[in-house]
Amino acid sequence: MVVRIAFLGCGGVARAHMERLKKIEGARLVAFCDPDPERTGWAVQAYGGHAHSDFGTMLKRQRFDALWVCLPPFAHEGQEVLAAEKGIHLFVEKPLALRLETAREVAAAIRKSGVIASVGYLIRYCKHVAEAKRLVRGRRVNLVAGRYLCSMKEMRGWWPVMSKSGGQVLEQSTHTVDLMRYLAGDIRKVFALYAQREMPGRPDWDVPVHSMVAMEFVSGALGTLHSSAAYLVETSDELRLPPGLYPQWADRGVRLGCEELELDCSFGGLRVVKEGETRELRGQDDSMLLEDEAFVSSVARGKPTGILSSYADAIKTLAVTLAANQSAASGQPVECTFS
Ligand SMILES: NC(=O)c1ccc[n+]([C@@H]2O[C@H](COP(=O)([O-])OP(=O)(O)OC[C@H]3O[C@@H](n4cnc5c(N)ncnc54)[C@H](O)[C@@H]3O)[C@@H](O)[C@H]2O)c1
Repeated sequence: MVVRIAFLGCGGVARAHMERLKKIEGARLVAFCDPDPERTGWAVQAYGGHAHSDFGTMLKRQRFDALWVCLPPFAHEGQEVLAAEKGIHLFVEKPLALRLETAREVAAAIRKSGVIASVGYLIRYCKHVAEAKRLVRGRRVNLVAGRYLCSMKEMRGWWPVMSKSGGQVLEQSTHTVDLMRYLAGDIRKVFALYAQREMPGRPDWDVPVHSMVAMEFVSGALGTLHSSAAYLVETSDELRLPPGLYPQWADRGVRLGCEELELDCSFGGLRVVKEGETRELRGQDDSMLLEDEAFVSSVARGKPTGILSSYADAIKTLAVTLAANQSAASGQPVECTFS
């Protein structure tokens, strides 16, 4: 079966999906919606189909089976509800929205219409993550240490604006929070501290540059999330880090201590320490291709097969990050409610 696909939002991540979809048998790109005509124009030239600047018009004029929602966090305004009501299956990029209420309305529309929905928590599709999940299954988890450490100093546009992106924890470290939940279960309560320091050289910078979130899991395990959007930034041209000191541009992952086992499941690989022996697994998957394949084949078959991040589950990750933002603002611990 051919799956006719439309895009809502045709920026960076949309292009990355389009590249993958091109390789998937049965996937056909038919429509692109974005207020920026350069972006839709580029997509039409590369893949064929039709360009739209207005979502309502695309929904009315075009026939498609699935919609890839690749909007910035602030731009989710119920478009998914309109699509679900028309029976269109949804692939939604993380984070789901800036408000829990918006995501709840989408979740209700998905339930009511019965459309298939998948969310872009692509790390779940890596084979080394599947191995980590297999190893943790049935064991008591004691401590979970998540991290998302990088430098976002060069980010422009909506990303450094709190009211548009929701900040690093909601927009970016959400991948780590989701991995923490995937491996160690749901999170009940958070207590967050955010640092609203200056980002060197960026007077326009608005989102907190570092943050720490303490977490209580439903299981009773405790966790922490360390995030930094300015982990290695230079404060002046003179201060340069020695080459090779930090080989990766980012350090992202989850360390997990459980019964007789220690895991470090990064976004790029897995280290397992068991009975004094260390085993390493390097991740080599194109996880975006795997998540796109799972979604296309689910739509083609008419039932979810191999989707590892449903909308109903992803809303719980959103709830944790929103609770962290609320806790940092209030200085109080916050319960993670999602229903
Ligand atoms: N899963 C991942 O690894 C991953 C990676 C990158 C980005 N993302 C997520 O994808 C989303 C988009 O990120 P991006 O990097 O592509 O951003 P981007 O700024 O490159 O692209 C966003 C696009 O959406 C368009 N847009 C804005 N409002 C719109 C509206 N109302 N209707 C239609 N189009 C609209 C913009 O014009 C722009 O072209 C973000 O939520 C981000 O967190 C996920």
